[in-house]
Amino acid sequence: MNVIINPSIRHLNDIEKWISQFKHHWDLIIQALKNKRLIVIAQGEETTGFLTYRVNGNIVNIDFLEVKMSMHKRGVGKKLVESSLEHFKKLGIRIAEILCRPQSSEIFWKKVGFTILPASTNFDPDELKLYRVLGKILPVSGNTIADREMLTLELWNEEPHLAKQYPSWRWQLICKTGSGSLVEPIVAPCHGDWKIRLIQGGETIREHKVKYFSKRPIDFSGYLIIETLYNLDLE
Ligand SMILES: CC(C)(COP(=O)(O)OP(=O)(O)OC[C@H]1O[C@@H](n2cnc3c(N)ncnc32)[C@H](O)[C@@H]1OP(=O)(O)O)[C@@H](O)C(=O)NCCC(=O)NCCS
Repeated sequence: MNVIINPSIRHLNDIEKWISQFKHHWDLIIQALKNKRLIVIAQGEETTGFLTYRVNGNIVNIDFLEVKMSMHKRGVGKKLVESSLEHFKKLGIRIAEILCRPQSSEIFWKKVGFTILPASTNFDPDELKLYRVLGKILPVSGNTIADREMLTLELWNEEPHLAKQYPSWRWQLICKTGSGSLVEPIVAPCHGDWKIRLIQGGETIREHKVKYFSKRPIDFSGYLIIETLYNLDLE
């Protein structure tokens, strides 16, 4: 199976012969080819699947994905998604997001590593959105802080006035030697109204809603993304 990042009109002509689920969006698929937002998979000369996408800063949205009906359940969709995500990762993109339509494809998306976006971060409760982080991220630390002197970022999945005592997630900010860059970035779904707090040695350094926490952007279309201390206004 061969994944083609820059397909041609020949591939599109092949797809037109078998497209079913997204036939009524054909104009958008032609547009995706023109704008280099189409990726296809082929077996020899035969085009057996496609996906279209849009990049928005750190995030890529996969809009349509379809595999030729006679090729279903043979690993074609999985190979197409995995190779495409590898390509997006190389471009420095941190998150892939999909709006699960039809919702029957939810099992497939979970099999290829996607997770349902928590309802509280998802602005339309009727939509089923899934996401996958691309590349390594800073792991969350457990409830016991190993090193109290380390800068620690805490995030609640609630607004400050509703927030319970203990945060939902906690990260110890480990930087590369001699640099303000984190060893791995923090990437997590979040809402701009959630509570976030920075502590060190048991003292609160700053506490706010995510959207007011730093002068620099850390909140990107429903995700918290922090790569350096500079993002947190600490350098
Ligand atoms: C969803 C779709 C792209 C999957 O493609 P595919 O090539 O059949 O999927 P794969 O063979 O790579 O399957 C990968 C895994 O998902 C599972 N899977 C795929 N479709 C599934 C389904 N409908 N129900 C349950 N599991 C499914 C496979 O069993 C496989 O599991 P495994 O890794 O444990 O073996 C294909 O069914 C399709 O084109 N559907 C119509 C359009 C659509 O729903 N697109 C997605 C929304 S944008």
